[in-house]
Amino acid sequence: MVDSILRSIAGRENEPATSVFKNVTAIKGATAAGLLKLMDEQYGRGLGWTCNNCHVIGKFDDDSRKNKKIARQMQQMQDHINADRLTLVKELDDNYNKASCAMCHRGESHAWGELEVLAAPPPQRRPAGAPPAGQGRPSGR
Ligand code: HEC
Ligand code: HEC
Repeated sequence: MVDSILRSIAGRENEPATSVFKNVTAIKGATAAGLLKLMDEQYGRGLGWTCNNCHVIGKFDDDSRKNKKIARQMQQMQDHINADRLTLVKELDDNYNKASCAMCHRGESHAWGELEVLAAPPPQRRPAGAPPAGQGRPSGR
């Protein structure tokens, strides 16, 4: 799918997505090829989905699918986290990972909520002095 769209926009891959495509309002600053990479890697694989979970195939600018509407708002939420919230956390390392679709969705439709690893392990398997499950930090910071 990505390859066939790339062929249809040949020569314009590096132009802004907003000028090559008809209906791009949420994704900021991507080239046309960059938008397609995002669609494939984050919107698609990041949720374990294919293009037709959100799009009417052949009419990619069409906004009638509910999942496409949700995805656009997710993009806005994610941009807010990255631009307005994480930047306030001055103690983070310089090269921390920005929030992405895959970071929360991890290859599935629904974002991860409960993690098995956070469920309290049986007390006898917790080493003496270790913090309760889920509260430990991997590094000593
Ligand atoms: C989770 C939903 C979702 C999935 C899956 C998805 N897209 Fe998108 N796609 C969107 C949204 C939302 C937009 C509009 C982004 C914006 O407004 O900035 C978009 C925009 C596009 C556009 C621009 C269309 C236009 O003319 O405005 C193309 C092309 C596109 N997607 C291709 C793909 C391809 C190819 C795949 C599969 C590899 C894919 N998308 C998977 C949600 C999705
Ligand atoms: C900060 C975490 C987070 C990020 C980042 C995030 N999401 Fe979500 N997403 C959620 C939560 C929470 C829900 C609602 C609960 C659920 O359905 O899992 C959700 C739901 C959705 C749904 C509805 C799923 C369904 O089947 O009802 C779609 C589609 C979606 N997100 C797309 C995206 C896309 C595309 C991106 C990247 C642009 C993204 N999300 C980034 C947390 C996130």
